[in-house]
Amino acid sequence: MNDQVLATWRAAQLHGLSLRRLEPSDLDAVAKALQPGEGYTQTAALAETWQAIRTGLAGFGGDGVNEGFVVRERGDETPIAFLLYRRRNRGTDDFGEGAILGLLGDGVFPADGRFLQIHDLWVAPQARRRGIARALKRALEATAASEGFGMIYTVTETTHQAVLTLNEQLGYLEVYRGPMWDDVERVGLTKPIG
Ligand SMILES: CC(C)(COP(=O)(O)OP(=O)(O)OC[C@H]1O[C@@H](n2cnc3c(N)ncnc32)[C@H](O)[C@@H]1OP(=O)(O)O)[C@@H](O)C(=O)NCCC(=O)NCCS
Repeated sequence: MNDQVLATWRAAQLHGLSLRRLEPSDLDAVAKALQPGEGYTQTAALAETWQAIRTGLAGFGGDGVNEGFVVRERGDETPIAFLLYRRRNRGTDDFGEGAILGLLGDGVFPADGRFLQIHDLWVAPQARRRGIARALKRALEATAASEGFGMIYTVTETTHQAVLTLNEQLGYLEVYRGPMWDDVERVGLTKPIG
């Protein structure tokens, strides 16, 4: 964790909570937290088991591309919140046929094509409305700035007003609205960095 990220975290004044890097050993807990559909969809419960979600998280915290932050209470390693993200490059990544990221115009991306994509954001129900999600997103901005990524990209459902409000407060801009990988209407948002 670099100094800028830690300074951002301390500024949030979430006393008793600390931030660390996601480790591969966290992934079972992450998948179990996401299983009720949280962090992924509001409009339909996921049929996936936590083991299937866990399979989709392979590499996170260990491959240098797929990373994350974990929040824990002092003295307890169990995550009470996490933000997973991916280091992306529009010039070299294959987003897959029909993927919205591949269809967005040049103006959405930094000139060098490098951006961070939020993959999952989750805060335990008993820890919500304390500013943890906001602090995690600020920590990601500090990461982007210190690693030279010119933009953060995130997606949420159009009905997820809490996250839309949070993103608006943080200066995210809407770049797409409509169906993405299924027929649920979602919003793609970007935050320019630097
Ligand atoms: C959405 C979620 C990450 C928010 O986490 P959080 O730590 O409670 O959020 P914060 O306390 O940082 O809230 C920041 C701002 O977001 C908005 N917000 C967050 N939760 C809200 C809610 N339930 N209702 C209305 N606004 C909300 C508010 O504007 C809030 O600022 P305020 O408290 O000063 O009014 C959390 O509820 C969660 O994990 N939900 C399930 C998973 C999920 O939906 N992930 C996002 C997928 S895109």
